[in-house]
Amino acid sequence: MGVDRLIGLERNLLTGTEDIPFGLKVGHTWHEIGVIFHVVEAFGIRGFVELGVHEGGLAALMVARTFYRHDFHYLGVELDAGVVRTELKDMLAVANPQAAQVIYGDVFSDSVKQDVQAFMARVGRQCLLYCDDGDKPRELREYAPLIRPNDSGIKTTGDILMVHDFWDGQREPQDLFGYGSTLDFPRAEVLPADVKQFAPMAWSKAVPSWLAETRIAAYFREGG
Ligand SMILES: C[S@@+](CC[C@H](N)C(=O)[O-])C[C@H]1O[C@@H](n2cnc3c(N)ncnc32)[C@H](O)[C@@H]1O
Repeated sequence: MGVDRLIGLERNLLTGTEDIPFGLKVGHTWHEIGVIFHVVEAFGIRGFVELGVHEGGLAALMVARTFYRHDFHYLGVELDAGVVRTELKDMLAVANPQAAQVIYGDVFSDSVKQDVQAFMARVGRQCLLYCDDGDKPRELREYAPLIRPNDSGIKTTGDILMVHDFWDGQREPQDLFGYGSTLDFPRAEVLPADVKQFAPMAWSKAVPSWLAETRIAAYFREGG
């Protein structure tokens, strides 16, 4: 089998909806994983809140970051403890619980919202709140009030609200950027109508060019 054939096979296999950096599935493309870490680094994110952990592929990457960067903190929320892989639970068992933790509960419950708010208050600005659970439009609506605004006139000093599985009907999400593989089908769970509340004045869209080939939407709240 020639090299060309092998490359062709790899391309066919890259469906783009699940990648496996640490041996645990991440429900994101490689390109999306790269974009998330780029945002974390470029915006000086101190706290990452992941609403919807699933097996823990993205969580494992974030927990690993807390081992190396002591100014970085991770909080995951998952409804179904049984779906989270034991590898992630083992990793969390050796992590500093102040730095990395997963809580099990319903993101829409008052107690989880209070835990998320307390995490964000303890860590300080800036936090990235990432909506990736089962009802992302509702999550956006209910968690947006927690987002602290940018200082007046100063960009990127507040928190960032991001959501996965957004599709505007035009984006063409790529799996591994530059490798020519596209997603079979962007599973749209968040549509422009769900984010229109973030368009006017008080909210601005973050780094749209970085997001063009992803299913991620990101917003800041502008200061007064
Ligand atoms: C799309 S998966 C998360 C993928 C993960 N962020 C990743 O990158 O691999 C959605 C997860 O949200 C969880 N979930 C659904 N509804 C939830 C709720 N109300 N509260 C907390 N978690 C929820 C599901 O159990 C599922 O594991």
